[in-house]
Amino acid sequence: MIVLGIETSCDDTCAAILKVERKKSPDFDILSNIVSSQIKLHAKYGGVYPFLAKREHQKNLPLVFKKALKNANFFKKNIDLIAVTVGPGLEPCLWTGVNFAKRLAEKIKVPLVPVNHIEAHIFANLVNLKPKIKNQKPKKIIFPAVCLIVSGGHTELILMKKIGSYKILGETRDDAAGECFDKTARILGLGYPGGPAIAAQATILPKATFNKSLKLPRPMIHQKNYDFSFSGLKTAVLYLIQKLKNEKTKEIKNNKKIISLSLYRFLGSWLTSVICAEIQQAIIDVLIHKTLRAAKEHKAKTIILGGGVAANKELRQQLAEIIKRETPSCLFLVPPPQFCIDNAVMVAAAGYFNWLKNKNWKKIEANANLKIGESL
Ligand code: KG4
Ligand code: ZN
Repeated sequence: MIVLGIETSCDDTCAAILKVERKKSPDFDILSNIVSSQIKLHAKYGGVYPFLAKREHQKNLPLVFKKALKNANFFKKNIDLIAVTVGPGLEPCLWTGVNFAKRLAEKIKVPLVPVNHIEAHIFANLVNLKPKIKNQKPKKIIFPAVCLIVSGGHTELILMKKIGSYKILGETRDDAAGECFDKTARILGLGYPGGPAIAAQATILPKATFNKSLKLPRPMIHQKNYDFSFSGLKTAVLYLIQKLKNEKTKEIKNNKKIISLSLYRFLGSWLTSVICAEIQQAIIDVLIHKTLRAAKEHKAKTIILGGGVAANKELRQQLAEIIKRETPSCLFLVPPPQFCIDNAVMVAAAGYFNWLKNKNWKKIEANANLKIGESL
């Protein structure tokens, strides 16, 4: 079965074509995977502007779709099923993908299935990647699973009892983990998206010097719930930078050298790296602590990581290490970094499972605030 996935929930315009071998544990083969990123456009503003993003999706989606067909060596008529993200996400952006998918499904007369973006991030873990290893077994989740989905818009801990059965154990009360990376990077003048920028700065620092001189808060880490809050961390960074700036300005004034400097030069590259390493570690500490507690409490057999922030090397490594140490019987699944950030491969995979559940979806509409587990 050939499945086309379409994803336009935020600032990436994505189309992918998957070949699905229909078995009990289906085997997904990626035939093409196109992502057109709007990063350059939004970088100027330090964040995503929904109507600007919608305009770009409208412009790019037909081209991205054509390229996905071309790379798979296919025509429209080869497609058997279309899957499209309906939420959560930015409403105008979601509608662009939904309307495009509806028109195409009608034209080529194939079924269209809606996909929840958060569920798609979980399903990114089920896709085998090329080049395929001979006799590679399809990836499987052993239930129950605890999923940590961390992205620019969401931070959710989810208990997954089987495919399609989800309970949100906790979520962010304010900023998402990715949003915290993005906002603190903006404060530091490091550009958008903040996650990779902060991670890159943090790696400059030798591990030995790391975290000795500076301590940022780990919000809600010891609270007996599974919720998160990252806005306090962002504010702590803001105050820290203001304090450092004032001290430095005083120093410069005393030396009568009043020159305008960029914040980066103002702080010095070493100090910027120390701050970045500590921001990254503060976020990782909270995420790992709560995930592990949830896995232990719910006797999880699999821990799943997904979403853009899951591309973070330190988070992946540290979570893998702690699982090995503290819950060694637990399977750990995380997609390769390019399938953590938004893509349409995960949408096509999730769409296939939705199609197995229901072969005839009627009302397909964008829903910006859609929750995982809520009916589509
Ligand atoms: O899943 P995603 O691509 O889009 C949403 O659904 O929001 O996630 C984007 C987020 C951004 O906030 C970005 O800064 C963050 O993922 N991100 C990272 C890394 N790569 C992307 N955060 C930390 N480390 C990274 N390497
Ligand atoms: Zn996402």
